[in-house]
This record gives sequence, structure tokens and C-alpha cells, in this order.
Amino acid sequence: MNNKPNVAVVGATGAVGVEMIRTLERRNFHVAALTLLASARSVGKKLKFRGEEIAIKELGRDSFQGIDIALFSAGGNISKEFAPLAAKGGCVVIDNSSAFRMDESVPLVIPEINATDIKSHTGIIANPNCTTAITLMALYPLHQAFHVNRIFASSYQAVSGTGAKAIEELERQVGQIVAGRPVTKEVYPHQIAFNVLPHVDSFLPSGYTKEEMKMEKEGRKIMHHPAFRASVTCVRVPVYRAHSVAVNAEFAKPVTVETARAVLSKAPGLDLVDDPEKKEYPMPLYTAEKFNCQVGRIRQDCALDNGLCFWVSGDQLLKGAALNAVQIAEELVK
Ligand SMILES: NC(=O)c1ccc[n+]([C@@H]2O[C@H](COP(=O)([O-])OP(=O)(O)OC[C@H]3O[C@@H](n4cnc5c(N)ncnc54)[C@H](OP(=O)(O)O)[C@@H]3O)[C@@H](O)[C@H]2O)c1
Repeated sequence: MNNKPNVAVVGATGAVGVEMIRTLERRNFHVAALTLLASARSVGKKLKFRGEEIAIKELGRDSFQGIDIALFSAGGNISKEFAPLAAKGGCVVIDNSSAFRMDESVPLVIPEINATDIKSHTGIIANPNCTTAITLMALYPLHQAFHVNRIFASSYQAVSGTGAKAIEELERQVGQIVAGRPVTKEVYPHQIAFNVLPHVDSFLPSGYTKEEMKMEKEGRKIMHHPAFRASVTCVRVPVYRAHSVAVNAEFAKPVTVETARAVLSKAPGLDLVDDPEKKEYPMPLYTAEKFNCQVGRIRQDCALDNGLCFWVSGDQLLKGAALNAVQIAEELVK
């Protein structure tokens, strides 16, 4: 791969796309030329990259000529249609949707965990589900040390995880409630302001949602751990940005708070914020816009053998999407 590639962002105007552009800039990724692609609705808009305004172009079948790396975040259907086409033309696609994550020929990568899987790509590399990525940033180092068998977890997911329209929905509903006006709903089936929805993604016949099962399926693939089990409840909360996850993990080997802290304090991409006496623990308000995830509230699980409870929080627009994608791109040009 050319070490100063031509890069395209597909879905550049979206919640993730905008962060892709910012992250390329924040990490000083060597871009030769940046192409910004979205739907016909966005033609005429401009977005800034390194002080220059770049006009949005409409995504089309010939959008990938001369592009070395394409960062896709325009939904699964767009990925299914355009990612194979881009890859066929010689471009490497880093895809944020769930379209290819479980495809055996597509590496599913968190660079801190399985960067070497990138080498096996055949044109498409998948970025994991955001809640899974944030959880694994803390779980994987513990797995390396103590071998995880299973987890029970509940997520507290920010509205920006649903996209730009959901951010507007929370803002609008807060305004409506404060002004004493009726609440209108466009994105979520129920009011999200001053509420929590135990419903993220669509329901499966088992009663779990698709989002909830991603933790086990994607976790197995990323950690190369086919026996890993995860029982998860995903919850949408009225937080603008950054997901948090409460995890109870059961390990094969004995684990203590001290040994877990020693492991987590050295883990890449993770900060240990764990001093409850001083009221210090990770919170989405403070992990928002940060590259690193944070872990805290570490304690021995009182109901599991070799069990540990922890709370992990991270910016899902970054580690769960844009940052992880740019880190994969960095691996490609190494
Ligand atoms: N939000 C997150 O935290 C997160 C995390 C991980 C993965 N993802 C995944 O990333 C993808 C995008 O999510 P998002 O939250 O950024 O959504 P979003 O804010 O709704 O943005 C969607 C983007 O897709 C573009 N788009 C829609 N239809 C298109 C079309 N027909 N042709 C070209 N572009 C089109 C939109 O362009 P217009 O503005 O022109 O409509 C916009 O740029 C999804 O697959 C999502 O699952 C999101």
C-alpha cells in the first residue's frame, strides 16, 4: 500500500463520517487527496479537512477510481452494494456496517487485539460493533491473563450510536419537554429524553436483539475464542455521546482486583479510572471525544467463581467506529 494514499469517506456527512474526517486530521494520517461521498441530498455541501473546504460528491459506481482506501459508514445496504465494487477496483475498504463482519473471508479487527488478521484481507476489512469494541478493550487484556469463559453485561448506549438524526431527536425532545410542548418521535419507538429504552436493534426469535448477540459472535471472531459466551442486555440512554457497559466476567483462572488492575493499567488504548473513594470512575460525559476507553468500578464478583465486575466507557463514534477504522488504515500503510 502507498504510504500516502488517496482516501475516500463514504457517508461523510453522517455522525461517523464527520468523525472519520476529524480523526484523519487529529492523527495526522498522511492523506494524498480526500474524497467525500454521500447521497444526492448532500451534493452542494462542503466539509473542512485540514483547513480546506471539500465538496461532497454523490456516491456512484465510478466513485472509487484512483482511491486506495475507502472508509465506509453509510449503512449496510450501501456497503453491500458498493464495497465489493470498490474492492474489485483495487481499493481497500474499511467498513463500519455489520454487512461483512461475520463473513469468513473478511477480517474483523480491533488493532490492539488482532491487528495481524488484517494481513489476510482480500479487499474488505470490517470494523466491529461499537458496544463490542468498547467492551473488548477491557475484556481482551483480562482474557489474555485469566482466560474468560463467559460474561453477563448491560450496555448504556448513547443516541449518537443511532446516527445524526437521533442526536437531533434527543435535543428536540428535551426542548419540547422544557417548554411544556408535546413530544414528537421520529427515530425511536418511544420518547428517549428522560427515559431509557431496553431496545437496541431488532428482536430475534430468542428474545435477544441482534445488537445483544453481536457481543458473543463478534467477540469470538476478534478474540479467536470460539467458546466465548455472552448474555447481554442493550439499553439506549439519553446520553449524546459515548457508550458504557457494565460487565460481569467469569474466568478459567483465579483473578483478584489487584491482578486485574495490574493487567488493565498496562492495556493499550485503555485508561484505568478507578478510585471510588474519590468518586473517580469512567463516565460517558468525560470519555466523549477521547481516543482511549476507560475502565473502573473493578471488583470481585460476589456471585460468580473467578468472577470480576467492571464498568467500561468509551466514545463509540471513535473507538467504536472512526478511530478504529483509521487505526486499521494506519496498519495498512505501515
Ligand atoms: N453511529 C455510531 O456510533 C456507529 C458506530 C459503529 C458503526 N456505525 C455504522 O456506521 C454507519 C453510519 O452510521 P451513522 O451513525 O454515521 O449514520 P448517519 O448519521 O445516519 O449517517 C449516514 C450517512 O450515510 C449517508 N447515506 C445514506 N444513504 C446514502 C446513499 N443512498 N448514498 C450515499 N450515502 C448515503 C448519509 O448521507 P446524507 O447525509 O447525504 O443522507 C450519511 O452521510 C452505519 O452502518 C452504522 O451502523 C455507526
